[in-house]
Amino acid sequence: MEKKYKSSYYGHVVKIALILIIGGVLAVWARGLFLPETMGQYGHYRGGDLEDQRNVEVRNHTNESCYECHRPIRLIHKAGVHKTVSCEVCHGPYADHIKDDKYVAKMPVKRNMEIKTLCLRCHNKIIRARPEESIKVVALPQHLEEKKVQVDHNCNQCHMVHDPLLWVKAAYEMMGMEMKGDKK
Ligand code: HEC
Ligand code: HEC
Ligand code: HEC
Ligand code: HEC
Repeated sequence: MEKKYKSSYYGHVVKIALILIIGGVLAVWARGLFLPETMGQYGHYRGGDLEDQRNVEVRNHTNESCYECHRPIRLIHKAGVHKTVSCEVCHGPYADHIKDDKYVAKMPVKRNMEIKTLCLRCHNKIIRARPEESIKVVALPQHLEEKKVQVDHNCNQCHMVHDPLLWVKAAYEMMGMEMKGDKK
């Protein structure tokens, strides 16, 4: 009677131990199945990722790469207040336009009221997270009212998109007036 009781208790322990051992072996086997081959090659990450990152297509380029083909815009853009602004911010990535140094497709060009939305992405007064000195901002419709125009007037009627102060400066000069601030 006593012996029977003891052996059935022992049986439970063996069963649990067996399950744990089989589970452990299965886990080690499954880990081997799913681990990428180059895991741990250089450290605790997938070594092959270095190769993958090297092969990621470069989609964006600098303004210099646009200037090669767009000479007239180069002269305007480089001389103006937008000289630090990337062409791609307004026109999209280089790779959609040029492949192997050849023209392959049109670049998106914003038109009409889309231009207002584009400008206000950076120049809207309601962007509060940025210090005001970094990019000058305007509030609408006050800015247009101040300039005595209709609210449906568009930014590029007064600001040339590639050099926003070009026409403004010319207008001040024509009227023999000084622009406020220090605007070269
Ligand atoms: C602030 C936004 C902005 C930036 C930065 C910008 N562009 Fe533009 N670009 C425009 C807009 C808007 C138009 C359309 C102008 C219009 O309709 O009055 C345009 C027009 C053009 C056009 C003429 C296309 C057409 O059909 O009218 C070319 C070419 C061009 N941009 C190239 C460039 C290059 C190259 C750069 C960088 C040196 C650049 N742009 C930077 C907004 C921008
Ligand atoms: C290898 C030369 C080349 C380079 C580099 C180049 N473009 Fe162009 N781009 C062209 C040609 C060609 C056209 C078509 C001109 C036409 O239709 O009259 C064009 C047209 C455009 C237009 C007018 C819309 C269109 O696609 O027809 C814009 C805007 C433009 N490019 C922007 C850019 C920007 C921004 C860059 C740099 C990120 C750039 N381009 C780099 C050759 C180039
Ligand atoms: C990607 C952000 C960006 C976009 C989009 C953008 N700008 Fe600018 N803009 C700048 C930066 C940066 C400057 C230079 C810093 C400054 O003077 O505020 C600038 C300067 C200016 C200035 C001169 C401010 C001054 O008095 O010194 C005007 C005007 C202007 N932009 C108008 C426009 C117009 C119009 C558009 C739309 C066609 C536009 N911007 C789109 C970033 C942007
Ligand atoms: C009727 C013409 C006109 C229109 C339309 C216009 N602006 Fe202006 N804007 C001006 C003039 C002129 C100045 C220069 C102010 C000065 O220094 O006297 C200016 C200045 C600015 C400045 C610099 C503000 C500063 O604090 O120095 C920004 C940014 C600007 N405009 C953005 C825009 C944007 C964005 C739009 C479209 C939503 C737009 N403007 C539409 C005429 C205009």
